[in-house]
Amino acid sequence: VFSHVARAPEDPILGVTVAFNKDPSPVKLNLGVGAYRTEEGKPLVLNVVRQAEQQLINDRARVKEYLPIVGLVEFNKLSAKLIFGADSPAILENRVTTVQCLSGTGSLRVGGEFLARHYHQHTIYIPKPTWGNHPKVFTLAGLSVKYYRYYDPATRGLDFQGLLEDLGSAPLGAVVLLHACAHNPTGVDPTIQQWEQIRQLIRSRRQLPFFDSAYQGFASGNLDADAQSIRSFVADGGECLVAQSYAKNMGLYGERVGALSIVCRTADVAGRVESQLKLVIRPMYSNPPIHGASIVAAILRDREMYNEWTIELKAMADRIISMRHQLFDALRARGTPGDWSHIIKQIGMFTFTGLNSQQVAFMTKEYHIYMTSDGRISMAGLSSKTVPHLADAIHAAVAR
Ligand code: LMR
Repeated sequence: VFSHVARAPEDPILGVTVAFNKDPSPVKLNLGVGAYRTEEGKPLVLNVVRQAEQQLINDRARVKEYLPIVGLVEFNKLSAKLIFGADSPAILENRVTTVQCLSGTGSLRVGGEFLARHYHQHTIYIPKPTWGNHPKVFTLAGLSVKYYRYYDPATRGLDFQGLLEDLGSAPLGAVVLLHACAHNPTGVDPTIQQWEQIRQLIRSRRQLPFFDSAYQGFASGNLDADAQSIRSFVADGGECLVAQSYAKNMGLYGERVGALSIVCRTADVAGRVESQLKLVIRPMYSNPPIHGASIVAAILRDREMYNEWTIELKAMADRIISMRHQLFDALRARGTPGDWSHIIKQIGMFTFTGLNSQQVAFMTKEYHIYMTSDGRISMAGLSSKTVPHLADAIHAAVAR
């Protein structure tokens, strides 16, 4: 009965890892998926995460009972404080509902399904380009996806005029997906002044902002700075949705820990919204897993562990920034044609190199360097040892 089933293509991002794993070359380098690696090229479990896990193991009173549908309540409260700020008016006025979800993707999906059921506008505008999974998540959630201009390949920067025009002509009330910081894949963020203009435009069109926050603390090394865009939208008293992920900033990738927050106008509305979120979640996966959320809660509730986390987080962010400088210097030293200053101007995990899919294919074939075909490089996968190899490959690809 399944003989008609056609083979589906690999995922454009996770499929890069599948191809990488098949390559026997000793010099192979995976710069596809956004996953942090140490200078030795190894995955990193933060010390503070190990410490939290030890605490959990030592606590004999802990059981493996089901969590509520909305997840670990303390985790939800602490996550809201982390993203909105402890003194956020929305928190103080109980106008925000937060539910634990399966990392960023799960939070986007639950939020999308809630909007498809309960929001009057079913069109979501997403930036062009955006994370490859965004259009799929929202389409399957029941929304219709349209794009707004975001990136200008000519300047390798923000197409701010295009963005304003497209959101200005998007329907009143449309949902607008915004990357809170460290835009994936471009590494190009609006300035604070540009964010303010975007906020004014979105509010004047009564559009609904849906933030994807996958890199809080990872972009600048500062948790508050990376939440600034979101906080300005909360400060104006209007509604918004936020999908939060702990994959990158706590290195909890495979634990699938995240949260969806919906900021409402009143506490009463927030309570009703939460009751409906439960109806979205229960038939999808019943309730979320307990382990990762318990780790996050242990770290966020304890001042000492929290401080240690911020230090480890800053070290990861700084190492990525240093990789940007090393790659830029290596290309300059080789006299590689082109202006590569965008490597040091862009922010977050990725550099959007401007290399085309043929150049990427060449680098994979000849240099065993794996990256997404849109020319995105995960800077977090690079180390001082591998920068020269990457620079050689880029140089050869550009010179062809
Ligand atoms: C990425 O863009 O590489 C990450 O967000 C991982 C993923 O799930 O795609």
